[in-house]
Amino acid sequence: MENQLLTEGDVNDSSFRKNWVTSLDPQTISSLEQDASCFFHQALSTPCLDSIQSGAGIYITDLSGKKYMDFHGNNVHQVGYRNPYVMERIKKQMDELCFCPRRYTTPVTVECANKLISLLPPGLNRLLFTPGGTNAIGMAIKLAKIVTGKHKLVSFEDSFHGASLDAIAAGGEEQFKKFMGPLSPLAINIPQPNTYRNTGHSVENLEKLLKQDREIGAFIAETIRNTDVQIPFPDFWKKVREICTRYQVLLILDEIPIAFGRTGKMFAFEHYGIEPDILCLGKGLGAGIIPMAAMIARDEFNIAGDISLGHYTHEKSPLGCAAALALMEYLEKENILKKVCEDENFLQHEFALMKEKHSIIGDIRGIGLLWGVELVKDRGTKEKAILESELVMYECLKGGLSFKVSQGNVLQLSPPLTIRREELKTALDILDLALQKV
Ligand SMILES: Cc1ncc(COP(=O)(O)O)c(C=O)c1O
Repeated sequence: MENQLLTEGDVNDSSFRKNWVTSLDPQTISSLEQDASCFFHQALSTPCLDSIQSGAGIYITDLSGKKYMDFHGNNVHQVGYRNPYVMERIKKQMDELCFCPRRYTTPVTVECANKLISLLPPGLNRLLFTPGGTNAIGMAIKLAKIVTGKHKLVSFEDSFHGASLDAIAAGGEEQFKKFMGPLSPLAINIPQPNTYRNTGHSVENLEKLLKQDREIGAFIAETIRNTDVQIPFPDFWKKVREICTRYQVLLILDEIPIAFGRTGKMFAFEHYGIEPDILCLGKGLGAGIIPMAAMIARDEFNIAGDISLGHYTHEKSPLGCAAALALMEYLEKENILKKVCEDENFLQHEFALMKEKHSIIGDIRGIGLLWGVELVKDRGTKEKAILESELVMYECLKGGLSFKVSQGNVLQLSPPLTIRREELKTALDILDLALQKV
């Protein structure tokens, strides 16, 4: 278990996992074995959990026909699997143009850029697209170096901003940095805000750091941490914003997993009344169909026309842009943000009852349709209930509810934003039953 990334999710070499796999049907076991024989084995991936045949709405269906409500979806599934509105738009685009070669542009790409800019504060009005979130982070790091002329940055301990060398350097997860030798950029980690364990909310450390070390050019962080759902206090980001401005340090917000309605607002920073200098988006931007990400910044940072910040082959993907446009249109057309806020109120109420019922629940925190249920052995000591969390997860999987466990003891629940109230209730029932068994 030690060599696995508990921060990011549940482990794939535990005894629970081994038992789980033996309970699957022969066809699925064979598919998992074939996967394990050709893909590199890595934490949180191969060997896999199950083999999926299809996906629609909030469900994924495996080879045996078993359906799971997907409360994980790698955060790409805001509008569900195979959303018909998005599918139609992409199919239409496929009949016209699928790829835009370098040195050319195409109307759908420009339309998508302008639509995205129109959703953001007026200061954030220049962008680059790229296929993956990690690349967006890489471009943000490059841009920050160019704009500030400084090579160091600050990030949270244990933070994840992507898996490439520059992104792991910028982040704070030691497991990713292991064996990788000297890394760039040079990152200094400060404690992650954690309301349950009461750490990381003081900004004095940050201020001291920026005052002392004038080679720091940027602070990169998730506005609300997705994995174990850490929601900073209301004034946290205002204070950080002020400090960054005072020391001319760029604030880079990574909203790759949580933008586009997950928190009840289009972008999570809107909850805090601040604006980043650079914003990174990804995952759901491609509506769960086309890989798509973006790095957005101020117009005045458009000063590197003689080098390449991105230079990614698919940087003006017509299909990716058609998907992203359809996503943004769909969220507006269906008034999804309002629905997410209503779901938040409902869940707040239901989870409060659930917490009263199960003493194993130490904390339940959430915003919009992003929730973390933290399981502890004892509410006083807050000792993590690691085995119990895994057991709950496998019980839920048996019952048809899929989610991941973060930090070893936080059940991370992030369903598609299109989920119906009845489906939410069913998911809560499955969770409640699993908690009862534990
Ligand atoms: C906070 C955060 N930043 C960046 C990334 C990297 O995105 P991608 O996997 O699309 O490269 C992830 C992916 O999980 C993430 O959660």
